[in-house]
Amino acid sequence: MGLTRIPGLLFGGDYNPEQWPEEVWQEDVRLMAEAGVNLVTVAVFSWSRLEPAPGVYDFGWLDRVLDLLHAHGIAVDLATATATPPPWLVRTHPEVQPVDAGGTRLEFGSRQGYCPSSPVFRAATVRLARAMAERYRAHPALAMWHISNEYADHTAECYCAESARDFRRWLQARHRSLDGLNAAWGTSCWGQHYTDWTQVEPPRKAPGPVNPAQLLDWRRFSSDALLACFEAERAVLKEVTPDVPVTTNFMSVLRDLDYWSWAAAEDVVTDDAYPDPADPRAEVKAALSYDLMRSLKRQPWLLLESAPSAVSWRAVNVPKDPGVMRLHSLQALAHGSDGVMFFQWRQARYGPEKFHSAMLPHGGTGTRQWRETLALGADVRRLAEVAGTTTAAEVALLLDWDSWWGLEAPESMPSDRLRLHDLLLSWYAPLHSRGVAVDLAPPGRDLSGYRLVIAPNLYLCTAGHAAALAAFPGQLLVGPFSGVVDAADQVHDGGAPGPLRELLGVRVEEWRPLPDGVTQEVLTTTGALLTARTWTEWLDTCGDTEVLARYRGGPLHGRPAVTRRGAATYLSCLPEDPSPLLDDLLAAAGVTGVTGPGLPADVEACRRGPYLFLLNHGTDPATVPLPAGTGFTDLLTGRPLPGGPVTVGPRDAVVLKPRPTTP
Ligand code: GAL
Repeated sequence: MGLTRIPGLLFGGDYNPEQWPEEVWQEDVRLMAEAGVNLVTVAVFSWSRLEPAPGVYDFGWLDRVLDLLHAHGIAVDLATATATPPPWLVRTHPEVQPVDAGGTRLEFGSRQGYCPSSPVFRAATVRLARAMAERYRAHPALAMWHISNEYADHTAECYCAESARDFRRWLQARHRSLDGLNAAWGTSCWGQHYTDWTQVEPPRKAPGPVNPAQLLDWRRFSSDALLACFEAERAVLKEVTPDVPVTTNFMSVLRDLDYWSWAAAEDVVTDDAYPDPADPRAEVKAALSYDLMRSLKRQPWLLLESAPSAVSWRAVNVPKDPGVMRLHSLQALAHGSDGVMFFQWRQARYGPEKFHSAMLPHGGTGTRQWRETLALGADVRRLAEVAGTTTAAEVALLLDWDSWWGLEAPESMPSDRLRLHDLLLSWYAPLHSRGVAVDLAPPGRDLSGYRLVIAPNLYLCTAGHAAALAAFPGQLLVGPFSGVVDAADQVHDGGAPGPLRELLGVRVEEWRPLPDGVTQEVLTTTGALLTARTWTEWLDTCGDTEVLARYRGGPLHGRPAVTRRGAATYLSCLPEDPSPLLDDLLAAAGVTGVTGPGLPADVEACRRGPYLFLLNHGTDPATVPLPAGTGFTDLLTGRPLPGGPVTVGPRDAVVLKPRPTTP
């Protein structure tokens, strides 16, 4: 079965009918049907309209919207409407509004302002979720529940007194005793020894750097506190409508929430992706986030929001050139999405998002935007058979939120230039340009299905992580500044890479971060010259560890830079271009790109089930040297193609389905 009971791929967007007179709804559903829309997200910010006073509901308008949509064959991803608490709740209970790290309680007047730990807020959301579930449990338009909206957007954490109480409860469960907390947080440093739980507070704005172990627990707690909000609503929905899938929309590669634990609590992973059309690396970053979404539950996911053209929340909101909306949408499908959805259906006339693009723009149906919306709907229908198919990746990049949070603690690291997203991209980008399928994986997972595993950074590394990596039989690469601390952010005895020392056969004596603009040469034993930036290390090898590359010049001259023990490679620096190392690893692992060598620079190649997506992000035609043999049908055009090279037009794509060979 697909993500919902709707056959084929999903196509649609956020629909905010409460912003429009009812006459407009008629036009909306007519045009939706014309565009092939089969799913819309409704009621995301409707709490104040659905529950205008405590326990008093006004469902009439939403009943009419759902009936109308259903009558036109359009299903609904129905929000529980709890994303923005209504004014009556905020004014009668000001404590539901969040407090920032500086102690300021944030005002009403925007959206998604709430304290995740507020019992009043949680109870009110659960009450509304129950009312929604009971009202619409049997509505034929209901295809999926959408809880809240983009958790951690606007408010990722709250520092109020209620949150402090919740934080203490969370800490008591984790550390058991105050002694345990003092030990884990290393409070002997800087005179922070606690003698009573009431002394323990969130890491509010302080005169200097806050305790990084406290901050790490705070980030864990804040992710869990929001997850508890989600789970409270989910429990009600599952009780009333056990068969309706439940989701909440993720925000791509987001630091604030540990999406491994979040995804485990949802039925369907959905994502909101807003690559910046002005960013030359937009497609690569988008591909990474899509692969993360596919990996979270190892099943198809859904692009629930994307921008038809410009957004409205950047300093400069560059629109998408003609054809880019289509190409970016096909990219999400190539990476495992079972549909393409947008924010939003009809462009707003008022509010902060009145200049955000929409499927149906201010100018109406006589516009390029609308024509592209119609054409994309037709393309999505042509690709219906892709729904539900999966991707087999032989390479995994490790991503661990604890490690990410620890690595990016402010004001206490050897360099604040190590940013996990950049480190992931430094490996993801060259894999992507070779057409190699990549999964993301948490470090403790069974990795035996992969041939190559890359940990760009594993700053926080436990014995469990190390054991999982040691048990992995394939090629392994571990990046610099890994194996540094344990789960409490305390440095491993004997130095890095801590529990990975035996596996990697190295010991790091000294971190040597490089100032901005300074480079360090690294020469491999095969004669390739790499240029490292940002980070180097003084490394010792032990026993049978082989040196694959050495630093050249400077204080590290002649010292090991890249090493190998068995199938485990350690890289102690950050090469600008790791291609020579990567190519060796891919060769050793026996991994090739989905089209083999020679993929043109601007072309992205992804295999999904039997389908081969070739996406040309460039502005010139590009030819992909596919092997002669099997012929294909391009699902987008219905065109039969013989085996051999395939040319893809500028900003165009083909979706190739192998034709059965005649015996
Ligand atoms: C998302 C949000 C939507 C809309 C969109 C605009 O973050 O979920 O409601 O605001 O951004 O890009």
